[in-house]
Amino acid sequence: MAGTLDERRIDTRAEGSLSALRVQCMACGRTCPGDQAVSACAACGGLLDAVVALDQRLDPVAFSGALQPPRLTSGVWRYRALLPPIPEAAVVSRAEGNTPLYWDDRLTRYAGLAAGRFGVKHEGHNPTGSFKDRGMTVAISHANAVGARIVACASTGNTSASLASYAAAAGLPALVLIPAGRISGGKLGQTIAYGATVVQIDGDFDAALALLRETAGRHDVYIANSVNPFRLEGQKTIVFELLEQLGWRAPDVIALPGGNLGNTAAFGKALSEAFQVGLIDRLPQLATIQAAGAAPFAAYYANGFDHYSPVTAETVATAIKIGDPASVERARRSIETTSGFVTAVTDAEILDAKALIDRVGIGCEPASAASLAGVRKLVGDGLIAPDATVVGVLTGHVLKDVDAVVNYHLHDGDDGPRPGANRPVTIPADPDALAKVLADALQH
Ligand code: F0G
Repeated sequence: MAGTLDERRIDTRAEGSLSALRVQCMACGRTCPGDQAVSACAACGGLLDAVVALDQRLDPVAFSGALQPPRLTSGVWRYRALLPPIPEAAVVSRAEGNTPLYWDDRLTRYAGLAAGRFGVKHEGHNPTGSFKDRGMTVAISHANAVGARIVACASTGNTSASLASYAAAAGLPALVLIPAGRISGGKLGQTIAYGATVVQIDGDFDAALALLRETAGRHDVYIANSVNPFRLEGQKTIVFELLEQLGWRAPDVIALPGGNLGNTAAFGKALSEAFQVGLIDRLPQLATIQAAGAAPFAAYYANGFDHYSPVTAETVATAIKIGDPASVERARRSIETTSGFVTAVTDAEILDAKALIDRVGIGCEPASAASLAGVRKLVGDGLIAPDATVVGVLTGHVLKDVDAVVNYHLHDGDDGPRPGANRPVTIPADPDALAKVLADALQH
């Protein structure tokens, strides 16, 4: 295994080979070899799916039994039976995945659900602090397998941090395009620290991705954005792992934030596959939640998927500040297959939900809190029943965007201090002054 921090080998009963890798166009159905960098169908330009073995029957108990140590190292590669057969020697892993599923009834009450019905799967507990690591281990392993010379992405910050880390693990150069001045300092810092070449674009994420795709067409650059079908394969394991944590009893709804819509695409594929091979006996509904100022997919859903129009994105949740998501049609398929929902929540709703997630000691970055804000809205609108079992995905760690925390708690909103604002107090180094603070703290 190349470039891993963990010296234990990943046990793979089915040894992969490059010629076994296949991709299929979701638009024209054409199947092509997957032994090179691919991000669109050569015939029609459609979005691609990696092909995995679905002619198998996986018994949930036996499948979970196969996940005992020593195969626990990576929470991605242990689901290898439902991943493309990338040769083991090329795998680059940081022991990603294995993230917690938390239950806290303060969140459940806020969502409007019955006690014990709302869990949060915390993907911020990945090596670089976001769910992107699950996709990146597969993308960079594939890049490694096909002999890529340089890996690249456009990003609102988390993909770039993850790409930079996994490229460093693989010993590959990384090129990152980010919208100048529009990503959090923490994410920029990670990307710089892990050694990627960072290019700040005078434009938004959508312009950065378009520029990268054009460049990759002319130069030998391996794109690791979610247009890359292999990246999405790793993100499927968020769903496999949460289903396993629920004893393979599917919840009623899985809610997640939507930006470029790669995760929505991956979740739908994972659920269909888990259903097809017999791991679950029914499909949960997917609920994709967008920020109101960056909600072209919610608008597309609202008009019955009749006409799609990109928007100019604006939201405090910079991770999902995307006006023209690359995976719209794959995400549409996920929502249609699962009879799911798409909705949008305001920045104020996102920030209030985040403040509660933080306050109960779990913590997440702003975009992640769209999951809880969206579930609360869908329950309020009567679209999710109060006794439904719902899992919300928290996509990134609280430390990803510390400015958002400080702004919320230290600065007033339009209507004065925010709900639950927690302002530090400054006192002289004096016992009486501290005694007064102590008395106040005991009142809370
Ligand atoms: N949450 C977080 C924390 C993200 O970083 C992203 C996407 C999303 C949700 C949305 O996921 O794009 O699959 O719909 N971040 C990308 C990036 C765009 O570049 O880091 P999606």
